[in-house]
Amino acid sequence: MAVERTFIIVKPEAVRRGLVGRVLARLEGRGLRLVALEVRQLTRPLVEEHYAHLKEKPFFPGLVDSMVESPAVLGIVEGPDAIEVVRRLAGPTNPVEAPPGTIRGDWGLELPHNVIHASDSPASAQREIQLFFGPGPGAGR
Ligand code: PPS
Repeated sequence: MAVERTFIIVKPEAVRRGLVGRVLARLEGRGLRLVALEVRQLTRPLVEEHYAHLKEKPFFPGLVDSMVESPAVLGIVEGPDAIEVVRRLAGPTNPVEAPPGTIRGDWGLELPHNVIHASDSPASAQREIQLFFGPGPGAGR
């Protein structure tokens, strides 16, 4: 079991609804550790780069709009197998399919408002940590 770091975004709509504490409590309660945390108004170019692989999808403009309409909370989370553990805590992408007990299943209802983004692989985690936090002390291992 490798200690990993993963990247999360508590999405703007969830921040507006006051869900940040409850979402982070799920992660901390599981034993994961927050190594960076920041409230930030994301810019459109940064979000477009983050989701660049989805540029051709019909939902891309709405997804980007939803990420820049108000501040988000960005975090780096560390723990054993953190990437897989956080993805499982988040639940399936579509809240309709996310079971109760998962973050999206408890607090999400409709895309693009699925509460949390979490990196889906070690390569994505590394890329996203670098993209949002840069090569600073919070981002390195
Ligand atoms: S896909 O279509 O298979 O690439 O989708 P997936 O890998 O599951 O999700 C990638 C991100 O796209 C978001 N997404 C959507 N947003 C808005 N509307 C619709 N219909 C939609 N489908 C997928 C999805 O939430 C993923 O972003 P994150 O931030 O990781 O949740």
